[in-house]
Amino acid sequence: MHTYLVTGGAGFIGSNYIHYMFKKYGDDIRIINVDKLTYAGNLENLKDIENRANYSFVRADICDKDAISAIFAKDDIDRVVHFAAESHVDRSIENPEVFVQTNVIGTAVMLNCAKAAWTLEDGTFKPDHKFLHVSTDEVYGSLEEDGGYFYETTPYAPHSPYSASKAGSDMLVKAYMDTYKFPANITNCSNNYGPFQFPEKLIPLIINNALQGKKLPVYGDGKNVRDWLYVEDHAKAIDMVQEQGKLFETYNVGGHNEKQNIEIIHIILDTLRDMLPESDPRRANVSDDLITYVTDRKGHDRRYAIAPDKIKSEIGWEPETMFAEGIRKTIKWFFENEEWMKNVTSGDYEKYYDSMYSNR
Ligand code: NAD
Ligand code: TYD
Repeated sequence: MHTYLVTGGAGFIGSNYIHYMFKKYGDDIRIINVDKLTYAGNLENLKDIENRANYSFVRADICDKDAISAIFAKDDIDRVVHFAAESHVDRSIENPEVFVQTNVIGTAVMLNCAKAAWTLEDGTFKPDHKFLHVSTDEVYGSLEEDGGYFYETTPYAPHSPYSASKAGSDMLVKAYMDTYKFPANITNCSNNYGPFQFPEKLIPLIINNALQGKKLPVYGDGKNVRDWLYVEDHAKAIDMVQEQGKLFETYNVGGHNEKQNIEIIHIILDTLRDMLPESDPRRANVSDDLITYVTDRKGHDRRYAIAPDKIKSEIGWEPETMFAEGIRKTIKWFFENEEWMKNVTSGDYEKYYDSMYSNR
């Protein structure tokens, strides 16, 4: 039975991954979720599994060496899946330091604690113990509008403080693999969407604002392109890479689902109109007139697109959820979880939203 240490499991992708893993493996795995519970971490995301005997939660900062090594000392953890990070580009532009702290220093602490716990007397590592570092395609920089894809061999060229800090964390993992033969993999994934995504990111922000009749802020000309992946497909890819991937390799995760931001907004508005019954008062709020072009993001990357050739040919993973289906599932989830949205958008988030968008 594998014992997983999942960092950042109370966030968007981490919580979807934990749900996916229990759905797939049931009682055949144990998961220890370590999360600091920043503004982005929410234990409500896990309330349906919190009482499982094979799940436990530890509130800790991944930068806290003592706390992390104590977790490794208590159990024989043979799988680490490292999600914990500061993840929002706009916040990184406002306040880069916390991104360096959590994403770079936190990853160094995770690597060092795992290495210490997994090293045997003869200097080799315990067999079948593995670390998976979850990263982003943003480390590769920006593509031209008219072509090209990110491959695993594409040189790193991060632009935002967020992507620079993730690139730094990837480099540390690579250094551990090269220097110590530390048993790890890296996944670089494109933009995710789905249930439990915090509404500072484009898709949940647009759904939430449209339902409330609030402006839909489009940065720049709205033609920046992102390659969208349904979060459950990402969870599946992570598990497949960890179990079937070649150790020390990087795998890009994504898959030919490129869309301009403005297209995404129109799809969301059309889908909302289609899904909301005539009798629902929110239907009257949903209007194209809410679309508002605002000042562009500083250093805004133009286009991201993944070529998933390697993960497909070596592991057999492919995205399964078409965007039209994934966006309906996502919107349905937000309809059914209005209380979740109310809870995460009250208080500090409201203040953040007002300050971030007031002078755009
Ligand atoms: P998120 O912001 O929703 O969640 C991050 C989680 O990490 C939160 O639960 C937060 O409380 C926790 N955390 C933050 N700092 C911590 C610290 N110092 N110690 C312990 N826990 C801490 O992020 P997400 O969108 O779920 O992204 C998860 C990972 O996937 C990140 O590493 C991100 O770079 C990567 N990624 C995200 C996307 C995307 O589209 N969201 C795409 C590719 C890769
Ligand atoms: P985001 O969800 O922040 O993800 P990332 O920056 O990591 O790709 O943004 C996705 C795209 O949507 C990006 O091009 C910026 C744009 N965007 C807007 O136009 N308006 C918004 O309010 C937000 C949050 C993003």
